[in-house]
Amino acid sequence: MRLAVYPGSFDPITKGHIDILERSSRLFDRIVVAVIHNVNKKELFTLEERKEMIREATQHLPNVEVDCFSGLLVDYIVQKGACAIVRGLRTVSDFEYELHMAMMNHHMLPEVDTIFIMSTSKYFYISSSMVKEAALLGGPVGDLVPPNVEARLREKWRQRKEGKGVSD
Ligand code: PNS
Repeated sequence: MRLAVYPGSFDPITKGHIDILERSSRLFDRIVVAVIHNVNKKELFTLEERKEMIREATQHLPNVEVDCFSGLLVDYIVQKGACAIVRGLRTVSDFEYELHMAMMNHHMLPEVDTIFIMSTSKYFYISSSMVKEAALLGGPVGDLVPPNVEARLREKWRQRKEGKGVSD
């Protein structure tokens, strides 16, 4: 049983993440999407909301499950008995950060490798932060996130608009 962990913030999950999951789920027997629980970071969605959105959006992938972790990723990898870390790569700017993280993780846990999957060209520019920024200003993000996530972003936008008394 070859188990891989796909860690991240997923605030929220995008079609780019789903693409990486669809492709990596063909390479491993099981993939655990590990959502980081970082109490110091201000996320738009709560941990439970992020996990729920991932579950809803990955129902077509039977070997994908959703979990969360806090602390060091390598400790979680050992606890799960995983053989690999999956990360998506989009641009050159991703590369430096990802390289450092993969090297640090490899330094701490040499028996586990990070497997990078190149983003599909149509999702190259998608990031959760850009999606959030556009959506919270009322921009169309339906092509960038699964429908369940789009609905939740719309709800956040509506709540903010009402809270600030902004009119259409
Ligand atoms: O989606 P993100 O925010 O780019 O994911 C980053 C994540 C969660 C994979 C990374 O920050 C992480 O693994 N954090 C846990 C702490 C850790 O183990 N850091 C790496 C070695 S210092």
